[in-house]
Amino acid sequence: MTLEDFTMQKKNGENLNTQSVLAMRGSGYYSQKTAGAKIAIDATQKLLERALNSLPKSEILRFADFGCADGGTSQELWYNVVQLIRESGDNRPIEMIYTDLASNDFSTLFKSMQGMGKNSELAYQDKFDDIFVHGCGTGFHKQLMPSETLSLGFSATAMHYVSEKPCQIKDHVHMVGADSGERMKFEEQALNDWESILLARGKELMSGGKFICINFGIDEKGQYLGNTGGHSMFEKFRDHWYGHLKNGIINEEEYVSATFPQHYRTVEEFCRPFSESNSLVEKVGLRLNSCSTRLTKCPYRENYETKKNTMTPSEYAKSLIPTTRSWSETVFRTALVGRDPGEIDQIVDSFYENYENEVACNPDGHAMDYIHIVMEIEKV
Ligand SMILES: C[S@@+](CC[C@H](N)C(=O)[O-])C[C@H]1O[C@@H](n2cnc3c(N)ncnc32)[C@H](O)[C@@H]1O
Repeated sequence: MTLEDFTMQKKNGENLNTQSVLAMRGSGYYSQKTAGAKIAIDATQKLLERALNSLPKSEILRFADFGCADGGTSQELWYNVVQLIRESGDNRPIEMIYTDLASNDFSTLFKSMQGMGKNSELAYQDKFDDIFVHGCGTGFHKQLMPSETLSLGFSATAMHYVSEKPCQIKDHVHMVGADSGERMKFEEQALNDWESILLARGKELMSGGKFICINFGIDEKGQYLGNTGGHSMFEKFRDHWYGHLKNGIINEEEYVSATFPQHYRTVEEFCRPFSESNSLVEKVGLRLNSCSTRLTKCPYRENYETKKNTMTPSEYAKSLIPTTRSWSETVFRTALVGRDPGEIDQIVDSFYENYENEVACNPDGHAMDYIHIVMEIEKV
């Protein structure tokens, strides 16, 4: 779908499905500005190493990275995985499938993997023999490869995106601030989506194959991305978007349309499909081997804490806001579709500038710590 089609549907009040236009900021901006996501991915390497020890004995190894964005944040992890395999004397061909939505910037990804990007030393496609990198632009709620052909699936920070917004959130931007009726709709959508995701992976995986995922969610203490004490980032998004409404910069409909198509599942919601009686997920052979929660400290805040004597609050604000922008901007832009592109740029820029100014005035309590729910799933 083009942006024009989306605009038309939006005008007709039809479209809650933002998947056709959803994307992280392109041209490598996402991975360059998202150091925390890379740290969280790198911290998962041990789990992948464990999975490597018991991969199915197939002729080729097929790996998939579901919801890969520009591939930059997981590039080192996959480099290390491939290196370990080759060092162990395993010379089987490796097919690496990067999956994301059709609107994703696959071009940057393919360039990076071929050594044309910034981290050419991690271009494992070039550094090792018999590596075949492919892309898939179909959403992960569907089965993406033939049954019983996937050796190892991985996904980071992606499966909180719901396949469709069940409703707009009237007075907030995210389900964490939704009213109880809206929140229930998001929960139901996310439960159905999670089951679809698991059933699809259950079909794709070979017996003995593993699916390892680290997803945004709500931990046992009620913490989630940007809400681990101090200010809550999503409250700040809401405040500044509301500020634009109050100042007549956006209209009521645009205010409401900026609803993130995301749901942060609790640990219980993540585990529920495995524990239900007559579980469909168990019927396709999936078993949950472990589930834990993990906090990754905001690297931009940590940097500021260590350099407080030399770094000004405004420099800190300049380093923090782009990491929130790299993945959230698409939501605010989409809410403004129908306006002139230059006007959209201006409105979105001033929205993030207002947030940045707030942080620069008083940086206390501003950070974007990550909360992940880490799951090891096996097809038995
Ligand atoms: C926050 S980024 C995470 C990127 C990368 N995995 C990481 O951890 O840095 C989320 C990614 O999920 C993708 N995504 C969202 N919904 C998706 C879907 N239904 N199918 C595939 N990818 C999806 C987005 O386009 C985006 O690239």
